[in-house]
Amino acid sequence: MQPHVFEHLRRLPRHRPGQPLLELRRMPGQEAVVNLADNGNCWGPTEAVRARALEALAGPAPDAFRLYPPADGLALRTAIALRRGRDPGQILLGHGSTELIEIAARAMLLDGGSGLAARHSFAVYGRATQAAGGRFIECHATATEVEAAHLLGAVQPDTRIVFLGHPNNPTGTQLDRDALALLARSLREDILLVVDQAYAEYQDPDVYPDAAAHLQERSNLLVLHTFSKIHGLAGLRIGYGITNPELAGLLERMRSPHNTSRPAEAAAAEAIQDEAFEALSRDRNLAARIAFRAEAEQHRCRVTGQAGNFLLMETVFPAPELYRDLLRQGVLVRPLDDYGLPNHVRVAMGTPQDMAAFWKAAGPLLDNLGCGCS
Ligand SMILES: Cc1ncc(COP(=O)(O)O)c(C=O)c1O
Repeated sequence: MQPHVFEHLRRLPRHRPGQPLLELRRMPGQEAVVNLADNGNCWGPTEAVRARALEALAGPAPDAFRLYPPADGLALRTAIALRRGRDPGQILLGHGSTELIEIAARAMLLDGGSGLAARHSFAVYGRATQAAGGRFIECHATATEVEAAHLLGAVQPDTRIVFLGHPNNPTGTQLDRDALALLARSLREDILLVVDQAYAEYQDPDVYPDAAAHLQERSNLLVLHTFSKIHGLAGLRIGYGITNPELAGLLERMRSPHNTSRPAEAAAAEAIQDEAFEALSRDRNLAARIAFRAEAEQHRCRVTGQAGNFLLMETVFPAPELYRDLLRQGVLVRPLDDYGLPNHVRVAMGTPQDMAAFWKAAGPLLDNLGCGCS
């Protein structure tokens, strides 16, 4: 007889992991795989950030390994609060922002209800909703557009949480300032609005419609950021949320006490202060996006994605074929069939050398097989 596991678990689709890059690189002939499948920062982390992570483990041996990190993460929360113009009491730390998405879903859905996101949204929103026991609803959206009116129109009486990728992964879509304000102001106040800003730092801070602007007026808003993207620290697993102190205090109860490690916190505290590195990464990303679009045009390929450090490429043949052909040539991208986009691949912006390797492999395939526009 099996233990009586929560019935929802049986219906939950398994997480589909990407190709484990380090394993792939150990395979004969694949040592030089160019990774354009994760949306990390190919330029990071900086040496200073890496040094801080190592220093955090260097104390009197073996204490740095043996002792738990401080349970409240106050040093990092203070550094984040300083950078974001907030109070440390408004900052929550997560084992990646994924953990904060899961905490938010559990906090809202453990006693029932539904979670809502736009179609083609980051897969963790649906998984976290279902793992918490909630019903997951998707509103209409396309690969190129999401609308506040569709999200608002899809809200059900039992909806408890709404997720917005801002910009969304994998589509790179986001709301403009007015649409975001409409969503924030019109959503029922008993519903938690989670605005996931994992790629926010890739946009010009003067024009990016930062959802944190609504924190003052809305008590039902949680804004998420991660150190996995522009800061290049995905391997250390650390992210953060910003909300009002009262909600932070409640969500905090769902967090396990030592969910972030000492090296992760130390590296993140260094990274959050380095605005020059962010600006440099932002500029390089913009240059890579412009170059990518120009090259795609040469191959008559349709490319979409408003924001982020990745772009979507449309093919007239099933994208997994392109994925396999590219992999044979040592280039790893992300097919999006599991996101309901069977003819799209997502390509992260890498170094100029990475992108040259991509086009060397992809160019002839696309010219032979065809792209999304004729
Ligand atoms: C939109 C979005 N949110 C959250 C995450 C999760 O990031 P983390 O590594 O902080 O868990 C990702 C990672 O791919 C993402 O694309």
